[in-house]
Amino acid sequence: MTSFFDLIEKRESCRNFASAPVEKEKLEMCVKAARLSPSACNSQPWSFVVVESPDLSPKVAACLQEMGMNKFASNCPAFVVVVEEKAKLSERVLQKFKSQDFAAIDLGLTTAHLCLAATEQGLSTCILGWLNEAKLKELLGIPASKRVRLVIAVGYAAADTLRPKQRKPLEDLVRYEYGE
Ligand SMILES: Cc1cc2nc3c(=O)[nH]c(=O)nc-3n(C[C@H](O)[C@H](O)[C@H](O)COP(=O)(O)O)c2cc1C
Repeated sequence: MTSFFDLIEKRESCRNFASAPVEKEKLEMCVKAARLSPSACNSQPWSFVVVESPDLSPKVAACLQEMGMNKFASNCPAFVVVVEEKAKLSERVLQKFKSQDFAAIDLGLTTAHLCLAATEQGLSTCILGWLNEAKLKELLGIPASKRVRLVIAVGYAAADTLRPKQRKPLEDLVRYEYGE
């Protein structure tokens, strides 16, 4: 088992997938991990459509490729479509935090869980926000009233070299207030 710190170093957005299929058991482990993610009031405002199909996967890819984007998705064998479900927040929380979009935060967290679970199993992922929501919903029979927030491309990387991480310097993003 990888240490958590190794795991987060290993996770990177893959844009070069091998065509090898993804084992269904591994995809199920990814969703199991996503299910354990925390959420505001434990509202769990998510559901997932897992696609691993030589017929359907290219059709999902096509929904991610408008205006020349995400061309690499054509080679990706599997996708997890992240659907926003209605959050059942307590009236008190709803009133007090009207301007907070807790569901978006929760969906980000569950997506992170899913991606790290994939990495732990030797898979690679790319989170995709560039999507044609209406087309995806029609393709996958997701009710028009729901929101598709993200799609996660899942597969085996064609190469196993990792890129250096491009991140803001730590000193630009953290302030420690430890007291005396
Ligand atoms: C909400 C969200 C949407 C994203 N959408 C896309 C996308 O449509 N296409 C893409 O190639 N990468 C997409 N990415 C990946 C980011 O570009 C990537 O996470 C970032 O550049 C950091 O690189 P890393 O994931 O390799 O560490 C998205 C990431 C997030 C979190």
